[in-house]
Amino acid sequence: MTLRSVIRGSGSALPARAVSNAEMATMVDTTDEWIVERTGIRNRHIAGEGETTATLATEACRKAIEAAGIDAASIDLIVLGTCSPDQTFPATATIVQNALGCRGGIAFDVAAVCSGFLYAFATADALLRTGAAKRALVIGAETMSRLLDWDDRTTCVLFGDGAGAVVLEAVDVDESDPMAPGILATRLHADGAHGDLLHMDGGPSTTGSIGKLRMKGREVFRHAVVNLAAVLEEVLVASGYKADDIDWVVPHQANARILDATARKLGLPEEKVIITVDRHANTSAASVPLAFDTAVRDGRIKPGDLVMFEAMGGGFTWGASLVRV
Ligand code: ACO
Repeated sequence: MTLRSVIRGSGSALPARAVSNAEMATMVDTTDEWIVERTGIRNRHIAGEGETTATLATEACRKAIEAAGIDAASIDLIVLGTCSPDQTFPATATIVQNALGCRGGIAFDVAAVCSGFLYAFATADALLRTGAAKRALVIGAETMSRLLDWDDRTTCVLFGDGAGAVVLEAVDVDESDPMAPGILATRLHADGAHGDLLHMDGGPSTTGSIGKLRMKGREVFRHAVVNLAAVLEEVLVASGYKADDIDWVVPHQANARILDATARKLGLPEEKVIITVDRHANTSAASVPLAFDTAVRDGRIKPGDLVMFEAMGGGFTWGASLVRV
């Protein structure tokens, strides 16, 4: 028997207000055609008054806890990926912990931008397998709308707000059973040499303000396709599976063209790729768990499926994880 981190349930949350491309075109010089053709995005949700990263995360966690059929008080680890925390500190994970009524366990945020959920997932997995905790909430939650320059059409049309969460539990499984559930292999990477291609132009320790999101989209795109294809291959080799064995790929939802190009490189049919970028836009760390929960709830992803998570974001940071759900 071996200790593995098993997904017990998932949940997600979106702000009430949906903003179409047509509405975006009333704010900046853009068109529905340009946004759909270049990105695949048709809609995004934007947080309103009273909706924050922590409130969205809490709602996603409540649904994940309900789906898992567990008591919130039994959660002893919360790892939250975000680049849009409610406050510089305390960590948004501790705000969520308090809102859920859990006490005394480990709770912290992870800053890896669009890879935030993958980094949080890998960190929680490691802590669960060493016995430091038994039951975790892993969250990706963002209010990207609060980081955007709403006069910059090259970035403001691309992002949205939302949250997704999974309950991960340390379970003893029979490793010789190929259908035994749990996280099978994960690989994470970072390359700080490209920080300037996607960054905030402010921060608490530099300007004393949060700044605005800046991106050189074309260069980010190029790196994303190469890095994602490489890390997916790495995870397949580490796990002993082939691309053909994968039932579903749940990618970071940045751009439909990145998703297509990455799937093509791996020789994966597009029907196996979960796509929500059309509805949610790029929700950074929230996008992978949001897409996962969407596909679980609409019945596509089922227990026993082999699912590949992958993401790349600012830093650069990137990673992938193969899971038997
Ligand atoms: N509406 C209309 N025109 C626009 C808009 C807009 N919203 N934004 C830019 N344009 C114009 C530009 O000004 C430019 O005009 P010009 O040729 O007259 O100078 C033209 O469109 C082309 O601009 P590019 O930036 O070269 O367009 P590109 O085809 O590269 O698409 C995009 C831009 C969508 C950002 C793309 O590069 C991309 O998706 N990159 C990936 C970045 C990303 O998704 N990052 C998210 C986080 S990182 C990650 O998740 C991987």
